[in-house]
Amino acid sequence: MTAHPIFVAPSLLACDFGQLHAEVRRAEAAGGDWLHCDVMDGHFVDNISFGPAFVDAAAKVATVPLDVHLMIERPDHYFPRFVKSARNITVHVEARHDVAQTLAAIRAAGRTCGLALRPATPFEAVAPFLGQIDLLLVMTVVPGFGGQPFMPETMPKVRAAAAARARLGLGFRIEVDGGITTATAPLAIENGADTLVAGTSVFAAPDAAAAVRQMRGV
Ligand code: DX5
Ligand code: ZN
Repeated sequence: MTAHPIFVAPSLLACDFGQLHAEVRRAEAAGGDWLHCDVMDGHFVDNISFGPAFVDAAAKVATVPLDVHLMIERPDHYFPRFVKSARNITVHVEARHDVAQTLAAIRAAGRTCGLALRPATPFEAVAPFLGQIDLLLVMTVVPGFGGQPFMPETMPKVRAAAAARARLGLGFRIEVDGGITTATAPLAIENGADTLVAGTSVFAAPDAAAAVRQMRGV
């Protein structure tokens, strides 16, 4: 039993950028609860994806909330440029910023705030911030690219997050991101995840709606 209803957040990283508006509509028609926007700066991760203009373009036709995942070195400097179009803004604990200050500033800007950690980062690194977040993003692949295989060794961190949330009486969502498919979603949910980022498994699915339904567990 998870604390929140299961959400599926298709990742636009896996969509056809040349058909962005159609892809946004397709992900929503498939039942996506949020649209996940993977922003990469080529420094924090070894890839460059897109920036605020792309997210604003998606927001032009999106009717569901945008969940922006900043895989960038300076999220404190750049997050304001996403406030217009994002509902949630997630920053990495490993990036070069004052984590508590950035999280508070995102909330002060009227958005929910998330904190993400790489597979190699221990849960203890985010423990001090659990009382200040609306979402914890446990990366289930090394950030930077879609289409990578799910890393089951990240599941103890999801369990630790769910246990800490219960122990502390907190209400943040637990999101997983990377290699989430109809095959791996049940394991993530069983360990306590309630928000599933899915790129390839939605946009490359022959039937995206069936994939979303199956991942959600219905
Ligand atoms: C990695 C990205 C991916 C993407 C989803 O930095 O964050 O995890 O969202 O990728 P797939 O295609 O594995 O669902
Ligand atoms: Zn992501």
